[in-house]
Amino acid sequence: MAEPERPMKRILVTGGSGLVGKAIGKLVAEGGAGRPDEVWIFLSSKDGDLTDAGQTKAIFERLQPTHVIHLAAMVGGLFRNIKYNLDFWRNNVHINDNVLHTAYEFGVQKVVSCLSTCIFPDKTTYPIDETMIHNGPPHDSNFGYSYAKRMIDVQNRAYFAQYGCCFTAVIPTNVFGPHDNFNIEDGHVLPGLIHKAYLAKKNGTPLTVWGTGKPRRQFIYSLVSFSKNNRFIKLQHHQRDGEETKMHQQIGEEDEVSIREAAECIVGAMNFKGELHFDTTKSDGQFKKTASNAKLKKYLPDFQFTPFPQAVKETCDWFCANYDTARK
Ligand SMILES: NC(=O)c1ccc[n+]([C@@H]2O[C@H](COP(=O)([O-])OP(=O)(O)OC[C@H]3O[C@@H](n4cnc5c(N)ncnc54)[C@H](OP(=O)(O)O)[C@@H]3O)[C@@H](O)[C@H]2O)c1
Repeated sequence: MAEPERPMKRILVTGGSGLVGKAIGKLVAEGGAGRPDEVWIFLSSKDGDLTDAGQTKAIFERLQPTHVIHLAAMVGGLFRNIKYNLDFWRNNVHINDNVLHTAYEFGVQKVVSCLSTCIFPDKTTYPIDETMIHNGPPHDSNFGYSYAKRMIDVQNRAYFAQYGCCFTAVIPTNVFGPHDNFNIEDGHVLPGLIHKAYLAKKNGTPLTVWGTGKPRRQFIYSLVSFSKNNRFIKLQHHQRDGEETKMHQQIGEEDEVSIREAAECIVGAMNFKGELHFDTTKSDGQFKKTASNAKLKKYLPDFQFTPFPQAVKETCDWFCANYDTARK
């Protein structure tokens, strides 16, 4: 007997033009994700401003998604966060409330949002895990972004408690890769350093790292982490109703590197021969955010992350090849 035709799934990716959205888009375009009964729709802010409830509703009305991967956010590095804590708080609270509530109103079957390890308590024990998000205040540098992101977790819980909605989240560490924001002032540490190394090499000047270089980070490569065996895609396909699948997505604790080691890796990848300086008058941010990936390993025991030096080299090569059009 022929199988009854399954209804089409319409998977809407908010923030589809950003670093993570582009990585998922590449995978879907290359046929490595998605299924025959799925239509994927990638949004940018040009499709509508998600801080605005009316525009968010108009998008859902027009596109009728059955599933949502919610990535859209005001995102930035340490120094942009320090300057604009209020904007990070307001923009992200509005975007998240609009997307989650509109998804509820339109009967969306699943929403997978993106939290971050940046939002965890500053004073904590290590490794951090999914249960510890709300256990104390975040680091002062990015409290606006952190509290706004934490509220996604609260809202997911409340939509499930009150209406049984299947809304969940993944928690990546620092992501980097093609299509990142390479702006030196506003971007994250790795793309900012890649841009600085590019300019230092071109101009024959030293490469200056902001801070002592001592803080430690777990970096993950967008093209692998959000592609094959992608957590977002797996969650969209497999999460059972109400299942508590909020989970960290990152390399193991043993693969954490210092900012100095990351900078040295960029120096190698860019073949930069000049001097490396550390401007210790600049803030270091949180010293470390070491996160456990035990839950990821439990679900995906064979998952392989790209080795850090290889991922840095590929990102540097992409930036050099796309310098004129890269976000910077
Ligand atoms: N990058 C990281 O290291 C990292 C780590 C952990 C978690 N995350 C989370 O992962 C998600 C994606 O981050 P990302 O690095 O891909 O960010 P990104 O490259 O800065 O992209 C942000 C995306 O959000 C869209 N957007 C921003 N404001 C919007 C608005 N008001 N209305 C509609 N769309 C809006 C942008 O659209 P335009 O392109 O049109 O501006 C873009 O598509 C975010 O939720 C972030 O918090 C990122």
